Amino acid sequence: MSGTPHRIEPAPALPAPAPTWWRRPGLDVVDGRLSVNGADLEALLAEHGAPLFVYDLARPVENMRSLQAALQRAGLPYVTRFALKSCPDPRILAVLRAMGEPGTPDGVGIDACSPGEVLHALSHGWAPDAISHTGTNVSDRDFDVLLAHPIRINLDGVSQLERLGRRAPGRTVGIRVNPGAGAGYNEGLAYAGERPTKFGVTPDRLDDAIAAARRHGLNVDTMHFHAGSGWLGDQLHEFEAALVNATRLLDRLLEAGFPIREVNVGGGLGRVARDAEPPVDIDAYAGVIARHLKPYGVTASFEPGDFVMKDVALLLGEVVSVERRGDTTFVGLDIGWNVNCEAFIYGYAQEVVPVRDTMRPRTQLVTVAGHINEAGDLFAQDYPFPDVAEGEPVAILNAGGYQQAMAMTHCLRPTGTAVYLERQPERPERRPGRPAAR
Ligand SMILES: Cc1ncc(COP(=O)(O)O)c(C=O)c1O
Repeated sequence: MSGTPHRIEPAPALPAPAPTWWRRPGLDVVDGRLSVNGADLEALLAEHGAPLFVYDLARPVENMRSLQAALQRAGLPYVTRFALKSCPDPRILAVLRAMGEPGTPDGVGIDACSPGEVLHALSHGWAPDAISHTGTNVSDRDFDVLLAHPIRINLDGVSQLERLGRRAPGRTVGIRVNPGAGAGYNEGLAYAGERPTKFGVTPDRLDDAIAAARRHGLNVDTMHFHAGSGWLGDQLHEFEAALVNATRLLDRLLEAGFPIREVNVGGGLGRVARDAEPPVDIDAYAGVIARHLKPYGVTASFEPGDFVMKDVALLLGEVVSVERRGDTTFVGLDIGWNVNCEAFIYGYAQEVVPVRDTMRPRTQLVTVAGHINEAGDLFAQDYPFPDVAEGEPVAILNAGGYQQAMAMTHCLRPTGTAVYLERQPERPERRPGRPAAR
């Protein structure tokens, strides 16, 4: 089920220094101990029990602002919408909603992928026109709910165009295309490629999509694509290849006479999880999009999930066992893949950090394992780790995106609790640029 790792790192010479990529305002070492916004994590764990998500309420704002600032610097008219599926928690939604009116440079709309998410966004303060729905295998029952609200709807197949067109002829819609090239942390996270994926209208079906839109008088004003998720700094060229392919499809939609005014480039920006992984250069990303889309005079829209949420939270638990089996040392935690699915489902690398004496050198290679009765419930293998004692608190980093949203009761293990810690967000550098549109 899990994908291949982004990079196979050679086993380091031991002892290795503690990783440092993750240190940032609000997540740091205080008096030798890991701390979020100045709070003592061991005390929080003792109070709430494991698994415990610890969220930094300033971080989603900082991350979203950094993207908005790069788009401003690139002089690109833009709209940002938060991918709700990555974290539907009301406290996170509140800080994003408070950033400004959706459609203004500072504001944040919502990217929804189901009727449930649309209703959730509406009940948490977003107006219908600030919500964009892009769904897969959307049923007629789903359309009944979606069409009851004047939200933006992107249709990701000829079938969707036909079925929505019959129900709502003349409606304004977007078309999600499949650009035939993708970018992802690994192959499984690329949402387009030579082999068709289940998403979007592929180039060979675009004429059928155009015909269906015409037949029902649909006003297509948006083209959407999502290249994939979790891609990193050395993969910008892969995203750019998808964007270039998408602009060819944009040309065809424009030639067909549709008044496209928005190109939605999806989400997908990844966050590093190891010292060796290259971060995305957000200005380079904004620059690539500006270069390819400015000539069209369209608004670019963005729907990041992980880029906003991944480093917002960590997941606390305890080392319950240190056990040698053959040539492998297993460090067993009271956390399972039911709350920490990043490695199991997506193949993301995970970083595990001791709460006490956080920066002590890594002296051994271990396998970090969870408490679900499945062999694949592993968080890291051949992983440099310090000597740890049973009972020690540890943190799994990058736990803010998707993890809690996807938590399940497998083996009737707990789905975890969460605390939300406040901090004043830092402001990114902002040079004057063209204002956001709409
Ligand atoms: C259409 C669409 N938009 C946005 C996202 C958010 O992706 P990410 O969290 O990688 O930014 C996804 C994720 O699957 C998606 O499918």
